Amino acid sequence: MDLNGKVILVVGGAAGIGGATVALCAARGATVVAADLDEAQGRQTAAQAGASFIQVDVTDEASVQALARQVEQEHGRVDVLIQTAGILLGAYTPIEELSAETFEKVWRVNVTGTFLCLKYTTPLLKRSSKAVVLLFSSPAANLPSSSYAYGASKGGVQAFGIAAAQKLGEAGIRVNLIAPGGIDTGMKRSVIAEDARRRGTDYDKAIASSNLGAPEGVAKVLAWLASDDADYVRGLVATR
Ligand SMILES: NC(=O)c1ccc[n+]([C@@H]2O[C@H](COP(=O)([O-])OP(=O)(O)OC[C@H]3O[C@@H](n4cnc5c(N)ncnc54)[C@H](O)[C@@H]3O)[C@@H](O)[C@H]2O)c1
Repeated sequence: MDLNGKVILVVGGAAGIGGATVALCAARGATVVAADLDEAQGRQTAAQAGASFIQVDVTDEASVQALARQVEQEHGRVDVLIQTAGILLGAYTPIEELSAETFEKVWRVNVTGTFLCLKYTTPLLKRSSKAVVLLFSSPAANLPSSSYAYGASKGGVQAFGIAAAQKLGEAGIRVNLIAPGGIDTGMKRSVIAEDARRRGTDYDKAIASSNLGAPEGVAKVLAWLASDDADYVRGLVATR
């Protein structure tokens, strides 16, 4: 599909699913801005893709505001916001041992971060004739998660995205939620490592038997959803 002429902001674009999405959207002709907390990895990913990079901490309102301001100065609008930034902490931690600090940290990145990114890019999305927002839920929103904190946060993002789809839909902005299956990224590998550690099993064997999908596979779905070809898609999209 053709993404020529589109300005695409990928938050969480340094690595994992976001990193693969930066590369694919740029290869398909979009002007891509990658934003992430991890400046070193983000700059490398963006440079390889021919994208630009802006550092952001999605938990910091002033930082997200500054990101939106810089994108406005450089591009004037956003056609597609892809918000992949997220963390998973507390995998397999019993509830009696899970700290409120960990719970709130996960919530702050995954839910408040998603809210802040959408809040400050909405004025720029409203300048696009075919604006699209892609937010990250997870099967963990509807099925038991390894982490109380992560499962709760993805339920939060899902409810937030459903509200946004209806409200921003009235302004012509198409909002979709994405729920990938197990994808081979740093986040997923750290959960598998934690599971192997607590069971005393072999990490490499656990990875091999996990049948993880490639981040590039999800990136293909995201690039299609960002394109005009997907203009009839509404709601939650599950991927491998
Ligand atoms: N990998 C999977 O199997 C899987 C499954 C379902 C859902 N997801 C969701 O997909 C999205 C991408 O996950 P991934 O697997 O690519 O993870 P990842 O850890 O590989 O990448 C996440 C990116 O978010 C960035 N980030 C973290 N905190 C940030 C902050 N405060 N501000 C800005 N950037 C920040 C990281 O630096 C990193 O580049 C997440 O929302 C995740 O919950 C992943």
